[in-house]
Amino acid sequence: PTEERIDLLMKQMTLEEKVGQMNQYNGFWEVTGPAPTGGNTELKYKQLRAGLVGSMLSVRGVKEVKAVQKIAVEETRLGIPLIIGFDVIHGYKTLSPIPLAEAASWDMEAIKKSAQVAAAEASAVGINWTFGPNVDVSHDARWGRVMEGAGEDAYLGSKVAIARVTGFQGDTRADLLKVNTIVACAKHFAAYGFAEAGKEYNTVDISNSRLYNEVLPPFYAAKEAGVRTFMNSFNILNGVPATGNAFLQRDILKVKWNFDGFVVSDWASVREMIIHGYAKDGADATQKAVTAGSDMDMESSMYVVELAKLVQEGKVKESLVDDAVRRILRVKFELGLFDDPYKYCDEKREKATIGNKANNEGVLDMAKKSIVLLKNESNLLPLKKSGQKIALIGPLANDKNSPLGSWRIASDDNTAVSVLEGMQKYKGNQLTFEKGADLTIGKTAFIEELVFNTTDRTGFASAKKAAASADVVVMVLGEHGFQSGEGRSRTNLDLPGLQQELLEEIYKVNPNIVLVLNNGRPLALPWAAAHIPTIVEAWHLGTQTGNAVAQVLYGDYNPSGKLPMSFPRNVGQVPIYYNNYSTGRPTNGEGNVFWSHYTDVEKTPQFPFGFGLSYTTFEYKNLKLDKTAIALGEAVKASVDVTNTGKYDGKEVVQLYIHDEVASLARPVKELKGFELVELKKGETKTITLTLTDKELGFFDNNGNYLVEPGTFKIMVGGSSDKGLESRFEIK
Ligand code: IFM
Repeated sequence: PTEERIDLLMKQMTLEEKVGQMNQYNGFWEVTGPAPTGGNTELKYKQLRAGLVGSMLSVRGVKEVKAVQKIAVEETRLGIPLIIGFDVIHGYKTLSPIPLAEAASWDMEAIKKSAQVAAAEASAVGINWTFGPNVDVSHDARWGRVMEGAGEDAYLGSKVAIARVTGFQGDTRADLLKVNTIVACAKHFAAYGFAEAGKEYNTVDISNSRLYNEVLPPFYAAKEAGVRTFMNSFNILNGVPATGNAFLQRDILKVKWNFDGFVVSDWASVREMIIHGYAKDGADATQKAVTAGSDMDMESSMYVVELAKLVQEGKVKESLVDDAVRRILRVKFELGLFDDPYKYCDEKREKATIGNKANNEGVLDMAKKSIVLLKNESNLLPLKKSGQKIALIGPLANDKNSPLGSWRIASDDNTAVSVLEGMQKYKGNQLTFEKGADLTIGKTAFIEELVFNTTDRTGFASAKKAAASADVVVMVLGEHGFQSGEGRSRTNLDLPGLQQELLEEIYKVNPNIVLVLNNGRPLALPWAAAHIPTIVEAWHLGTQTGNAVAQVLYGDYNPSGKLPMSFPRNVGQVPIYYNNYSTGRPTNGEGNVFWSHYTDVEKTPQFPFGFGLSYTTFEYKNLKLDKTAIALGEAVKASVDVTNTGKYDGKEVVQLYIHDEVASLARPVKELKGFELVELKKGETKTITLTLTDKELGFFDNNGNYLVEPGTFKIMVGGSSDKGLESRFEIK
């Protein structure tokens, strides 16, 4: 019936109205105020009333959404409702951890729930479409947008993509009719995370085999999970801008994968094809984008100006426009917007949902699960609950803004629980707080460059005094929340401002330091890794940051996170990732310099992918395969006994890696192909079984063919990518 309703509607639509559906504008005027009467804003307003706008982004709040929707539904000739998009990246008002942090939980149920909380809040304020999940795989911590993704690995990234898509949308297409689900968007299609040198919007030039094996799998997983929209990306891929890329959007997405939702361009990326030198003007850019399969133009006004004329001149086939419009209308029908365009506009629900207790409990749970214990050498953690003097030091220790992280357009500033506030809830110890130094100078904002404090050390003396008399020093240092995200590439992965100096000064007076890191990307902290006994990776954990950190520090939650991205020893190692290929000389077998290494630093990362400690310890034993030889198409099961050998109950992520030893294209030295999050009481042993099928054992060649080849496979099972029990089997 949906397709029939679309047919009926499309028969009534003029070419201009069809093009209008393909046009998306950013919220352009104070919709509850007076109507605009000048310039570009007035023009957009007129277009909205003429049925020339199909979607708006960043309009939010029931009142505002209702007002624009009313114009679309009641003032335009056909009354087609708008689809309302928004960047709900890690929550709407109540913020969960940044997506990279969530990926560190390796807990798909928790990630799905976190997306459900985000969808509940967003849908309650009139939004019905989020521009997420970001499923960009990246090997480059310099790139600011790694905070939005799931890290460096396509397999983990695919699982996270499924959790997020089904969290936002529900498990089936019919779930979109519910009032608390929203349409998801897999972005950025494709390969944006491979920007050269980690520089924002930069050139991407990669092989097809890398594209098929490392970039596309999370997109495909999202599509299989039912994602209804894709967003293309700002970058060129092997010379062709993603927005004008027919190979990606038509050949792969719409033909090979049979995707029947729609593709939205990224912001002005249609127009930017002119600047890339791929289109000569707006008409050319429009022709190329529509032909390539970009269905909706985000905020570049190219389609609304150029497209109808291009069709009339025979330069763009009307069937392409029809195809795009059909896709957009389909999603609007699936949301139930034609039956009730105001279904997300219930003020009572808005009030009851935003920031409610359950949402806060949800994001707290996610925040605890996202924390990764990187080092705990002298068992400073968990902290004793009484009788201790604790000095809490650092510019981020009582910051209520920075831990909210980047990409949080709708949240209110200064609404995070700070680490100080979280720790103050534990009253048995004597807690003193000293900032030590400011991190930034002046106002901090999502769209502006940050200015760091590099000179004002006036707080150092009192911080040192507090540290000197403490039993344990907890230091909260790292990146400001707005230091990662879009447009935030870095060439240094250090502690910005005076923080490294502060850390070293405090260490001189008291080395019993627990370093709590706040950051939106892997950092390179060789000095801290060598000197500081205890390091806790706490990312930017959102609204409940302080409560989550305090509960972990005091042992009320035993950390279980594992890194979703390798942490380098220094920037020169980047890109560094666990699933690299072998060189012809991977070790120094000859005892001379002619092997693949650096002369000044070890070639391994500081902290590898999959790594993370617990307050307890786990032992792996008895790795067994149910078969040592299988036929093509058969499955093999690996089982292993995991024992909690320490003093606390805990959780472990059991990871399975494979290495296809000889193949028609060289394969990575290891590839994650299975994992399970297992809960073990102290002393308990569980046998974990992970299964490898065709889906895990093959790879794509440069033409996109999926091959499972006979030969030997090494497998490794353990609690990190750098070590585990090994075995072998063969595909005959
Ligand atoms: O969704 C984002 C995208 O990731 C980057 N450019 C702007 C879009 C809409 O805000």
